[in-house]
Amino acid sequence: MQDVLILGIETSCDETAAAVVKNGRDILSDVVNSQIDIHSQFGGVVPEIASRKHIENIGLVVDTAFKNAGLSYADIDAVAVTNRPGLIGALLVGLSFAKAFAYALNRPLLAVNHLEGHIYANFLEHSAIELPALCLVVSGGHTSLLYMPSIGEYELVGETRDDAAGEAFDKVARFLGLGYPGGPAIQRAAEKGEAGKVSLPRVFLDRNDFEFSFSGLKTAAMNEWNKLKRRGLANVNDLAAEFQAALVEVLVEKTIHAAGRFNARSILLAGGVAANQELRNLMKNRGREEGLPVYYPSLHLCTDNAAMIAGNAHINYIRKIYAPLNVNAYPGLLSL
Ligand code: KG4
Ligand code: ZN
Repeated sequence: MQDVLILGIETSCDETAAAVVKNGRDILSDVVNSQIDIHSQFGGVVPEIASRKHIENIGLVVDTAFKNAGLSYADIDAVAVTNRPGLIGALLVGLSFAKAFAYALNRPLLAVNHLEGHIYANFLEHSAIELPALCLVVSGGHTSLLYMPSIGEYELVGETRDDAAGEAFDKVARFLGLGYPGGPAIQRAAEKGEAGKVSLPRVFLDRNDFEFSFSGLKTAAMNEWNKLKRRGLANVNDLAAEFQAALVEVLVEKTIHAAGRFNARSILLAGGVAANQELRNLMKNRGREEGLPVYYPSLHLCTDNAAMIAGNAHINYIRKIYAPLNVNAYPGLLSL
């Protein structure tokens, strides 16, 4: 069979990214231009600034992806782009660019769901993932458990009722003065502290369902911090460690429970929070105890990138499910 080369474009949040992936597996280039330095001074992503930076950067990012892959425009077979979910202004930049590119080259356009892309990052690196799988997608905007009977098929098992896991990390880090993005900042502080010195709730852990809630944990962490400060006992590292432990324990136990209930043969972690070392370690250990293989992408493929978009698009390329040139962008999930 002839090789299939897909250009992927990703602009759903604050990373302008482009990549070329061969046959849905081999990453020929993977360029990520992060705006973190710009947004961190505001304590979070400013949507209009994100869109404007994407507009400035996308041309160069795409050209660099071609250069790094040693390819010219005409070599690619299709153009894939994230069109949901995400910041609408940011998505529209990537989508418009991808449409123009596909039209000019007379190649098919493929629209990709960002969360499916995150899950697919696992398939870029692991060749023998056992299906059905139970996927935990944890990012800045989402916390969902998905049952995956076969490649490209998903059923929602449970999700958060309020804050996403990454959002809780970011908000608590901001409150504690640890900076943005909050996940890595809390992880670093937690490494220097000890969980259990203060006590935070494991929300919904005792419930027999697959729903999450992190808003209460976030508020509890803030209240605890104010209380400790008043008493002169505030240790930011211990609080960060307990917050991380409380959040990770709930994620892991609910995922293990769901994998058992749905007879999954493996567990997949996906999304920016899947970069969390505590989550990776605890999930691996619990999976081992239950006889379930646990997969997660390497760190650079956990956070936003375009290789996962180009890779995921290969599924629809093979099925010839192309996007029309009037395809739109959506801030929400639509369906999975
Ligand atoms: O997937 P992602 O790059 O963007 C979205 O699609 O939202 O995820 C970003 C989120 C942020 O909330 C960030 O704080 C979190 O992932 N994150 C982490 C870690 N690295 C990134 N959370 C916990 N621990 C980490 N090491
Ligand atoms: Zn993401």
